[in-house]
Amino acid sequence: MSGHREQMSSDSFDGNSSLLQGRRFYCRKWALEKLRHCLDTRSVPGQPPGLLVMGGPGAGKTALCTEVVWPTSKAGLAAGLATRCLASHFCQREDQRSMVLWKFVLGLVEQLRASPLLSPGYRKVFDSPSVSSALEPVNCQKDPDDTFKRAVLRPLLDLPPPAQTLMLVVDSLDVGYGPDTGSGNSSSIAELLATNQHLLPGWLLLVCSVRRHNKAVCKIFSGFRKLCLDDLRKPPPVHDVQQYILCRLDEDAALRRQLTPDTADMLNLLHIKSGGCFLFLERVLDGVAVALEFGISAVQGEDSSQHVQ
Ligand SMILES: Nc1ncnc2c1ncn2[C@@H]1O[C@H](COP(=O)(O)OP(=O)(O)OP(=O)(O)O)[C@@H](O)[C@H]1O
Ligand SMILES: [Mg+2]
Repeated sequence: MSGHREQMSSDSFDGNSSLLQGRRFYCRKWALEKLRHCLDTRSVPGQPPGLLVMGGPGAGKTALCTEVVWPTSKAGLAAGLATRCLASHFCQREDQRSMVLWKFVLGLVEQLRASPLLSPGYRKVFDSPSVSSALEPVNCQKDPDDTFKRAVLRPLLDLPPPAQTLMLVVDSLDVGYGPDTGSGNSSSIAELLATNQHLLPGWLLLVCSVRRHNKAVCKIFSGFRKLCLDDLRKPPPVHDVQQYILCRLDEDAALRRQLTPDTADMLNLLHIKSGGCFLFLERVLDGVAVALEFGISAVQGEDSSQHVQ
């Protein structure tokens, strides 16, 4: 099960490389369109400050966030979301550093500082002694909430709104989330963002993802709009699962050659069994493809050994 995790290299923590290197992204056109709609309507008064991408383990939340930030598919490129992404962060279960709050805050500031989407006015805040001292790692470690307010929230609120609404993408908020310690300081990235959600400028949409069963995190973002990737009561996620299987068949001639009425029935069962988990589909189809390849080379091996005899 760790294969795709390894592919999601820890280098991605620096915020400028894709997590799904080498894997193709399929389907999810509806989800990208919904996200785009939320972004376009963000500044309408009364709109929630964020969108919560939800789904069970392996539903494809990280894949979707990755496609938003580094699009590769036709639908991803057409959605045009990457150019409106001010900053992104991917929390990863296997990389403790990605969950450290003060590192998250400093990483965010670095991305904002380098972003061509913000007016140069933002960079001026770093001349202020109170901001530069809040950015000292030792101070940020002590009080990440304060650094976040001084170097992110306040300066962004002071800027003139950009021509288009922008977004901040944070994947896997359930990773590293612990209950409120009662200290008055945030103990996780999720808590920091939830506490400050009402202070975000009206031109900025916070796009976060979380495992659906993590009720505690879902609750602190209950005011956000929801985008559930594996709710199989809804037609779009069902269509995605069917489409994913078809895309894999389309891509892989060996898989396609095995299509008989029996295997078509099995694929139908696979779609039902998956419960909307793309990881499950990916692993089963990868396994079938490898087994077929193995079978073919075994048969070829047999043939050639017969020739030798
Ligand atoms: N739209 C997609 N197209 C192709 N592959 C996908 C897609 N969505 C997910 N996958 C594949 O399914 C696997 C699981 O996806 P992903 O890691 O995004 O799930 P997740 O919801 O983030 O899971 P977790 O809750 O464990 O973080 C990955 O290996 C990914 O390559
Ligand atoms: Mg994930």
